[in-house]
Amino acid sequence: MVESKAWDWKIVKNKQEQTWLEPSIESYYLIDRWQKQCKKDFLDLGCGLGRHTIQFAKAGFNTAGFDLSEESIRRTAEYAKAEKLDIALKVGDMLELPYPDASFDCILCRNVISHTDTAGMRQIVEELKRVLRPEGECYLTLGSKETWGFKQDWPVVDENTKIRIEDGPENGIPHFYADYDLIQELFKDFKIELVYQLEDFYEKDGKTLNSWHYHLLIKK
Ligand SMILES: C[S@@+](CC[C@H](N)C(=O)[O-])C[C@H]1O[C@@H](n2cnc3c(N)ncnc32)[C@H](O)[C@@H]1O
Repeated sequence: MVESKAWDWKIVKNKQEQTWLEPSIESYYLIDRWQKQCKKDFLDLGCGLGRHTIQFAKAGFNTAGFDLSEESIRRTAEYAKAEKLDIALKVGDMLELPYPDASFDCILCRNVISHTDTAGMRQIVEELKRVLRPEGECYLTLGSKETWGFKQDWPVVDENTKIRIEDGPENGIPHFYADYDLIQELFKDFKIELVYQLEDFYEKDGKTLNSWHYHLLIKK
């Protein structure tokens, strides 16, 4: 299995940093959905700078935040302190989540679990199954094989995985790319409530780039 590598948050500044501090669109839907389902214990898996950790804690969820990056957990702790929120934060690798079985009602892992290879992905799916309660839900995103990254001449780990080479926070980080068939196979033990593929556009060095991600809402 390829070695896990955290984002280098220290080099994320200005407009890029702002993007990672603003909650994603679907987070508002998830808060509403999970409040209506009376879900309480929430894990922000791969919490980054804590945008969703803080948002869900403010919405009343018992919130845990987890990331491989010490800088990420330091920044999220600082943010939680400023907001006077009590949040359980841990540094660690998603391949072995440091939580007992059936710890969470709901999990968000946005732009996180693709940071591994195919063997790692299978292990993470097992970990999600283990730490979710029965009827628990998880919203996650996966890089799509349609995206430009999968077509780059980057080092190949396996048929679904490349090591990203860039002058930025993701340099040297493994990226797993999926298609619909692979998603169905990986998540066969879950009920897939929602799956869609989104193209998003962003500006980098004066150029418009696009990327494709699958978004999934799965239920145990
Ligand atoms: C693109 S950022 C997304 C952050 C956050 N989910 C958000 O939406 O703002 C990916 C995060 O996943 C973390 N990460 C990467 N590999 C990881 C691993 N093996 N275990 C835990 N976290 C990991 C990175 O350190 C980084 O903070």
